[in-house]
Amino acid sequence: MRTNGIHANLSSDFVLRKFAGENESNNMKKLLVANWKLNPQTLNEAKKLFKEVSNFKIHDPRFELVICPPFVFLSDIRNLTSEIRLGAQDVFWEHKGAYTGEVSAEMLENLGVEYVIIGHSERRKWLKETDEMINKKVLAALGAGLKVILCVGEPLTIRKRGLTAAKKYVGAQLKKDLKKIPKSQTPRLVVAYEPIWAIGTGKHDNPSGTVEMTKFIKHVSCIMYHVSGMRVLYGGSVNSGNAEMFLEKKEIDGALIGGASVKPKEFGKIIKIAQRLS
Ligand code: PGA
Repeated sequence: MRTNGIHANLSSDFVLRKFAGENESNNMKKLLVANWKLNPQTLNEAKKLFKEVSNFKIHDPRFELVICPPFVFLSDIRNLTSEIRLGAQDVFWEHKGAYTGEVSAEMLENLGVEYVIIGHSERRKWLKETDEMINKKVLAALGAGLKVILCVGEPLTIRKRGLTAAKKYVGAQLKKDLKKIPKSQTPRLVVAYEPIWAIGTGKHDNPSGTVEMTKFIKHVSCIMYHVSGMRVLYGGSVNSGNAEMFLEKKEIDGALIGGASVKPKEFGKIIKIAQRLS
């Protein structure tokens, strides 16, 4: 089985071993990314949510936490503390000019934002973002010094055909989304595997399938773009009841969490799991 020139199910262990000197993923701390999406509705609620989350010992060397509020709350949350790692949920590819409504990577960087989520399936769906647009965003964000969390994942129709079909789909996304990324910038790249059918549905992936996909993503990125040591996260209905199943796998470097990240108690339990497993 070939996926855009890459073997979908062979030799990923070989490639990962080959790069083992550089690839520290197995020893890396778990990364939790809280994707607040279009929540909450007011600045006061956003500050309250942030403060509640901060009560869970979030400055812990055992794991890394990134909070991704809507653009409009970034600055106020940054003003509450300089300690937290902030992420944005999107970015535009141009630096400046006549692009009404857009936000540049430089603007984010200037606010003290460290990470940016790019290519989320909700933006692919509702905003009709294409892989070409996503690729331009990835290049702009990396070029501005941001860390990129690139989201990839297959729809249910593809997954129903099996994991090999899903790998082929994800491999094609990676090929387009990561086109022309400079090798020097690849250490700032994280990929989130988010099967579309698992996002916000309460139906999470099977962790062994996620492990296989994670290895495949590392393998493809390594072969195509010489990306080594890259973290791959899982996202899709992660909650306190299933987080351990994913985070305990050494191949899965963390989680991108939507719904559960805006429920402080629930999110606190996930934080504790990440601390224990890191
Ligand atoms: P979910 O969202 O945890 O609510 O499924 C994950 C995501 O969309 O990033």
